[in-house]
Parts: sequence; structure tokens; C-alpha cells
Amino acid sequence: MNGARPEKLLKAIANLGYGSRKEVATMFRAGLFTDASGEVLYADDRHPLADVRIEGEPLDPPPGLTLMLHKPVGYTCSTRDPGRVVYDLLPPRFRRRQPALSPVGRLDRDTSGLLLMTDDGALLHRVISPKAKLPKVYEACLAQPLRGDEAASFASGTLLLESETTPLLPATLETLSPTLARLTLTEGRYHQVRRMFAAVGNHVEGLHRDRIGRLDLGDLPAGQWRVLTDAERQSLG
Ligand code: URA
Repeated sequence: MNGARPEKLLKAIANLGYGSRKEVATMFRAGLFTDASGEVLYADDRHPLADVRIEGEPLDPPPGLTLMLHKPVGYTCSTRDPGRVVYDLLPPRFRRRQPALSPVGRLDRDTSGLLLMTDDGALLHRVISPKAKLPKVYEACLAQPLRGDEAASFASGTLLLESETTPLLPATLETLSPTLARLTLTEGRYHQVRRMFAAVGNHVEGLHRDRIGRLDLGDLPAGQWRVLTDAERQSLG
């Protein structure tokens, strides 16, 4: 809406995924929508969504939504996968929102941790752009003890992944135990962490993303999500 006058409620609420326009029109006729003071609202009203209630409850966040999800292992970031998908962890309405809510980059099915999702296309592109250089921090549990030369290899800026022609940007490796490493990347290539360890003769058995820029999961349990604050969204650049 960008400061323009609000859309008619029928369209705005259907776009939040509450139902088709026909279904939402029926909900309006049933008097389900009111303002915060309890005054009934009508489908063609133009009213700030923050002041709209459905059966007395606030609506879902309006467009401009960015959330963090603590993705568990076993879920994919796709909408099409026949198995468990990250959208299964959100209210079913969120799958039907327009503009669509999309993962900001991806985590593999076997990777857990911090996943951002947004309907803000500009924010999505800012975060995943190679120019952003936003640090992403992973903890990798390894099949073999570290040899000791991996940090230099990852930091070199010359490491080439199999079937690629552009070397990786320098990455930072910290050894937490012989088979546990913290890796900080500033880019996001396909299966990058797993392929980096494969390139130095190791194998990642468990992978978790702890942090993106200044954001971390805090005490958010696996499978749970929360909306980012304005300050958190701004910290993404
Ligand atoms: N690197 C990987 O190998 N997998 C992820 O999910 C993220 C980064």
C-alpha cells in the first residue's frame, strides 16, 4: 500500500489468505469483521488492517511480513515437495497470502536452524544478494576429526567446489571440538557447507544454522516461528 489509501477490506483480507473473495464476502455478511471498538466493518470499507478484528481477534500481520522460523530437520523449503515442508509449521493461511511468503535462501531438508521468510521481495533480494555479504553462521557435526588445515583452505578465497569455476569467498572456520566446527559464510551456494567439507575430504553428519547477520534464534524452540521486530528487519540491511 506504501502510504496510499488502504485497499478495500475484501481484497486486503482475501490476500491475507483468510479465503477467496467470495468466502471473505460471506464472512463480512456474517458480521465477523469489526474495528477495535467492536463496530461492524463492511467489505468495501477502506480501513487500516491493524485496527480490524475477526471475531474480536487481530488479523495476521499485513504485507511486509518477515518472520524467523526454527526449522527442524526433515522439512524442505519448497512448496511442491510431497513430504514435510516449512509451510506446514505456519498457519495454513500463510500459504495463500498475496504477496507470497517465501523462504529467504534455503536450508536443506537435513539442516536445522534459522530460516527467514518474507513477502518483501526487496528485502529478500537484499539478503540473498552476493553483494550483501551478510554473515551466516553454521555448526557442522563432522564424520571425521578435523585435520587442522581446513581453516586455511576455507579462508584462502581460492577453494573451488566440484563443477564450479568461481572460487569461494573466504570463510571462517572455528574448531569447537575435533568433530564439531563453526563456519561463517558470506555467500550461499547450493549445499555449500556440505560441499566445502567434502572438498577437504570430510562429511557433514549434522548441520544447523545459528545466525544470519545480527539475528539468532535465541530460545525459539524447533518448529516455532515469530515475526521480526522493525529493528531486526532493519538489521538485515
Ligand atoms: N549449506 C548446506 O550444505 N546446506 C544448507 O542447508 C545450508 C548451507
